Amino acid sequence: MANWDSLYIYYISGTGNARMSSQWIGEEAAKRGLKTVVQQIDRLENISMPSGNDKPLIGFAFPTHGFNAAPIMLKFIAGFPPGLCREIFLLNTRAGMKLSKIFLPGLSGLALLLPAFMLWLKGYKCIGFRPVDLPSNWISLHPGIKKSVVESIYSKREPQVRKFANKILSGDKVYRGIFSIPVDLLVSPIAAGYYIGGRFFLAKTFIANNKCNNCGICIKECPTSSIRYVNNRPYWKLTCESCMRCMNNCPQRAIETAHGIATLIIILVSAVNTWIFMLLIDTLKISPDAWWWKIGSQFISIAVMITLASLIYIVMHYLMGFRPLSYLVRFTSLTTYPFWRRYRYRREKKDPGKAGNDLTTT
Ligand SMILES: Cc1cc2nc3c(=O)[nH]c(=O)nc-3n(C[C@H](O)[C@H](O)[C@H](O)COP(=O)(O)O)c2cc1C
Repeated sequence: MANWDSLYIYYISGTGNARMSSQWIGEEAAKRGLKTVVQQIDRLENISMPSGNDKPLIGFAFPTHGFNAAPIMLKFIAGFPPGLCREIFLLNTRAGMKLSKIFLPGLSGLALLLPAFMLWLKGYKCIGFRPVDLPSNWISLHPGIKKSVVESIYSKREPQVRKFANKILSGDKVYRGIFSIPVDLLVSPIAAGYYIGGRFFLAKTFIANNKCNNCGICIKECPTSSIRYVNNRPYWKLTCESCMRCMNNCPQRAIETAHGIATLIIILVSAVNTWIFMLLIDTLKISPDAWWWKIGSQFISIAVMITLASLIYIVMHYLMGFRPLSYLVRFTSLTTYPFWRRYRYRREKKDPGKAGNDLTTT
C-alpha cells in the first residue's frame, strides 16, 4: 500500500495537453488528501523540489517530440537531483487523432523508455508509465484538429488519465504501453535523428509575417526562451523545440511555418550533400560502402542541413523587411491560409481551492 504524503508533478506542455493531464492527476491526489504540487518547468526556472520532511511520489509529464520526450524535459531529468524519493511515474502525451469514429494513437518511440532509464540510473524506480493520446498539436504538418473532435478526444482520455492516477496513487504498478516497445525501439533511429538534427531544422521554419504587431506574447510565452527580436521582428533561435505554443497562441495568427523556404532548404541540402560526398569520395578515395562512411556521412548531412538552414534563415529574416519578399515567404506557407486551423485546447482553469487541499499549480 502506498504511503506517500505528497505528490509532485513536473510538466512541460506546448499547447496544454500535458498540462491538463498533470492537472487531472493532481486533482485525484488532492482528493485523497495528499499535498499536491503541479509544476511547470518552463525555462527550467523557479522549480521547487520536495523538502527533506516530505515522503513524495514524483511524476513527470511531457509531450512526445520526434519519438522522444521533449528535449527540455530530458534536460530537466538529466539535471534532476537523485534521492528525493524512491518512486516516480511518467506520462507522455502523443498525437491522438480521430477518423470517423475511430480514435487513432500516436507513437512514443523512446519518450517513456529513455526518461525511465535516466531516472533509474539516478536510483529512482518507475512504478508506472503511460502514453496518452490527446489531440495532435503539430500544426506545421497538418491543420489543427476541429474543435468538436478535440472535445471528443478529450472526453475519452480524461477518465483514462484519472484512472491511471488512482491506480498509481493506490500503490498499483501501471506499465501501459509496454506492448508497443518493439515498435518504439524500431523507430529509435528516427528519434536519434530528430534529436541531433531534425529539431534544429524545424526551429528554423518559423516566421512572423507582416501581420505581426510586435505584441511580444510569443517571446514571453516561449518555454525555452528561444524567440527574440532581431531587426524589430521575432526571430527563432536554434534552441526552439517546436512546441507550437507560439504559433497556436499568436492573437494575430501572424506566426507561420515557412513551408516554401523549408522545401528550398531541403532541395539545397541534398544538392550540397551530393556535391560534398562526391568531392570527399574522389579526393580521399573513400569506399562508399565502408561502414564508417555510412555513419559518418549521416553526420555530415546533418551538419550541412543545420548550417544551411541557419544561413538561409538569417538571410530570409532580413529580406522579409522588404514587402514583396515578406509576401512571398508568407504565401508559400500553407499555415497562412484560413483552412489551416490552429490547435487550441482551452478549458476554464479550475479553482485550485475547489479541487482539494493543497493543489498548487504554476
Ligand atoms: C515537433 C513535434 C513532434 C511531435 N512528435 C510526435 C511523435 O513522435 N509522436 C507522437 O505521437 N506525437 C508527436 N507529436 C504530437 C504531440 O506530442 C502531441 O500533440 C502532444 O499531445 C502535445 O502535448 P502538449 O499540448 O502538452 O504540448 C509531436 C508534436 C510536435 C509539435
